[in-house]
Amino acid sequence: MAYCLATCLGFTILRSAISQATYPSEFRLDWCVGDQCFDHSISAAQFQMRIKAYYQENRRPPLREAFFLVTLPPAYQREMLLGCPGMVVLAHLLLAESRLYTHDLSESMELVARAQGMMESPEIAGVHAEGVRKAWPYQTALDRVESTLAWMDAGGRQKLSTDIVLPHCREDLSWLGNSSLLQTMPYRTRIFIYEKCGGDESVVQQVSAFLPSNVQLVYTRLDDMADPATGLSARRDECTAYLSHVVHHFDNLADLTLFLHGDPSDHTPFGLLNLVLRGIALGTFSKLDFVHLGAPRLVATYNPCQDDIYQRAFNRESQHRLFTYCCSQFAVSKRRIRARPLVEYVRMLQLVDGTVADTCQRIGPSYEKYAGQRLSHCFFLEFMWHVVFGEDDELPSRADDTTLPVALRLKDNEEHPPSMWKSYMTPYIGGHAAFEQQGHQNWLMHFQMNLDLGRPIQKNFGDGLTF
Ligand SMILES: *[C@@H]1O[C@H](CO)[C@@H](O)[C@H](O)[C@H]1NC(C)=O
Repeated sequence: MAYCLATCLGFTILRSAISQATYPSEFRLDWCVGDQCFDHSISAAQFQMRIKAYYQENRRPPLREAFFLVTLPPAYQREMLLGCPGMVVLAHLLLAESRLYTHDLSESMELVARAQGMMESPEIAGVHAEGVRKAWPYQTALDRVESTLAWMDAGGRQKLSTDIVLPHCREDLSWLGNSSLLQTMPYRTRIFIYEKCGGDESVVQQVSAFLPSNVQLVYTRLDDMADPATGLSARRDECTAYLSHVVHHFDNLADLTLFLHGDPSDHTPFGLLNLVLRGIALGTFSKLDFVHLGAPRLVATYNPCQDDIYQRAFNRESQHRLFTYCCSQFAVSKRRIRARPLVEYVRMLQLVDGTVADTCQRIGPSYEKYAGQRLSHCFFLEFMWHVVFGEDDELPSRADDTTLPVALRLKDNEEHPPSMWKSYMTPYIGGHAAFEQQGHQNWLMHFQMNLDLGRPIQKNFGDGLTF
């Protein structure tokens, strides 16, 4: 990789004040690698606030910012170090802790060595290093790396077996053996393929051809049935596969089970999946009980149909609000699955296996070819799998979930407002005058216009994904 430093680099530091004791807080950088150019800004003050809150109160760790700083071209890291040493040093120490869960120990040790190397460099040693020790949680961060490692060495690191449960409906499963997509497969893995769309067992031969020999394949046919109310065939998506698996293997579960789609990348980035598989392979996720693997977050919703399914599934009133990630892919521990008695999974399976008719009313766009094409019981389970597996109705975001290993606490998708909104003052000042000038009646007229916008199309996270 060639950094094109001389010609296409613009490096701007917005200095609020320059003196030995006051560091600037907003850094804006742009740079190019080959023809690809980047620009980004980072606030040292915000980073400091968040990293302190992480170490003191286990609040959301600023992992994204830390990754940004640690992966900058070294020439920039040096500039940043001289501009704000605490930020760059602490970024390295936060990542060192995170890497302990997912990578070889040497990764963490290298990050710690770099942090210490910076503190001892002639430009920083002395008064600046003293500033980092006093104004930043430097010692806490170092201690954290050490205590995490000590916990792992004293039995926190355990060999974990893994099951991958895959409902299959014609998807190409070659990603399972493609090392540029899936970086690792834990040492004892079984893959359960639940065939849902009339395919045959030849898929097992295809898949086993590209899998390492430690992976065991189990094939089960599970055709979707017609709905008893309409007689029309009803897609049950992943529901029957997931629940059948739990019901039939309740006494024979792996330490961790990954419930995934035939093509997981539709809604789950391979990056997240790889972090989970790496942690399992290294045994560092021995305390993990539940992590949702969806990328987009669902909007928390209430509706009577969902409420009814909730009540039938869990035999209790819902709090009327379920909040989780999209699209029904997650990892669950054996402990957690077995915290609920088998009969309750049997009852949930009956909600989706055709025993109970779908009588939910369709309102608004349902993306169905005919009402009932997609079993609504299964659809609504998507909003409550986390409750099935013992989480509260409102699942915290991964970044805020203090029960997760820090390596899984990356911030989710972010909004990217158009550039005119980038300054938080712009809409506040500009908007006020503009709203008034538009006039209420004019706004109402436009609001009530019934424009034909065409048929809605559903787009998924993985559509058009390039690597
Ligand atoms: C593995 O995945 C990459 C990225 O999707 C793809 O370009 C490549 O062709 C795949 N390799 C195989 C052997 O399927």
